[in-house]
Amino acid sequence: MSEFVKGLEGIVAAQTEMSYINGEKGVLEYVGIPIGELSAHSTFEETVFLLWNRRLPTKGELAEFTGNLRDRYSMPDGIASRVTSVPKTAEPMHVLRTMISALGMHDTDPNANDADNARAKCLNILGQAPAMVAAFDRHRRGLPVIEPDTSLTFAENFLYMLNGEKPTETMARAFDICMILHADHGLNNSTFAARVVISTLSDVYSALTAAVGSLRGPLHGGANEGVMKMLNEVPSVDAVEDHVMGMLKRKDKIMGFGHRVYKAKDPRAKDLQGLAEQLAKDTGNEDLFAKSHAIEKIMEREVAAKGIYPNVDFYSATTYHCIGLQLDLFTPMFALSRLAGWSGHILEQLDGNRLFRPTADYIGPHAVAYTPIEKR
Ligand code: CMC
Repeated sequence: MSEFVKGLEGIVAAQTEMSYINGEKGVLEYVGIPIGELSAHSTFEETVFLLWNRRLPTKGELAEFTGNLRDRYSMPDGIASRVTSVPKTAEPMHVLRTMISALGMHDTDPNANDADNARAKCLNILGQAPAMVAAFDRHRRGLPVIEPDTSLTFAENFLYMLNGEKPTETMARAFDICMILHADHGLNNSTFAARVVISTLSDVYSALTAAVGSLRGPLHGGANEGVMKMLNEVPSVDAVEDHVMGMLKRKDKIMGFGHRVYKAKDPRAKDLQGLAEQLAKDTGNEDLFAKSHAIEKIMEREVAAKGIYPNVDFYSATTYHCIGLQLDLFTPMFALSRLAGWSGHILEQLDGNRLFRPTADYIGPHAVAYTPIEKR
């Protein structure tokens, strides 16, 4: 009987050729390429191709892949009308999860899990998910929905559908970098959820729906919204010390810090820190960045010895705020990008699948006599 490991820490439950993490050294690579190289030189579209094919595309392959993705920017009518009929008070992550699930009903062959069909479904969902989020946001703000523009990149098109105007080059590139940085990350909780579901040979829609549900939790992708809430609660840079020390004393978790795998600064946080600093300057949000930086300094002094450093969610909060996104769109942004990784893992799992079926360590009583209801 193997040992029970709470939270499955350190348990190897899958093999992947997509991302490599060295938590001690703070290294993340996609198919062997350091994440910093990709955020400096690649695009989201190229990164998705890399993850799904385990190699960089040629010019022609990238053009073809990008074209195919753009052909899928529009939602089917049935989904578009659903998105604009949900309550305006709904949370965008609930909407995204529900619409990905609903998309399965618009597929005439939803259970086809052979490699070509599964990949086509993943591409469809990746292409259409930004429209779901943007259309819902416009709907709840009482604004007309904006049709996608297939001349735009994934990042540009999302911001265009959200705001009704094309983003500046700087904003589009910043958003594209965020998409690259969040695209894949080993066997994180939501990726595991996707792999567990597809391992029953269920369907791509069900697996991705489960993944979105997992990501929204505050211990996972929901942490970026928690970071922003904390930054909003702290009135000034001067108030950071008392606020953070109070939280640590109460043993509250500081959102955006700590990681199951990283015991050094998350390399994505390093990239996002630079991006957040620049965008904060460009958009007059220097105060927000200064507060974030002050929090990091206190955490370094107080808890770095325990291996608690900023993770991807810490500086992404400031970055998303400066890009102009509403607070409850932060986690959906994570999801739009991570659809790439989840999909890649679903394809890997289907290729050589074995059902996930761990065991539970039963710790209750045995041989208990049945007590009739009138005697209880
Ligand atoms: N603030 C304060 N203390 C912390 C934090 C934090 N953010 N994270 C961990 N600790 C402490 C924790 O209190 C515990 O201390 P002690 O040993 O004295 O009881 C110790 O560090 C170990 O913590 P843990 O919760 O057992 O560690 P874990 O590996 O189970 O949890 C984590 C990892 C990410 C859930 C946790 O660090 C956390 O809750 N962080 C805040 C939420 C967050 O930022 N989540 C995003 C994770 S990265 C992106 C993603 O995957 O979505």
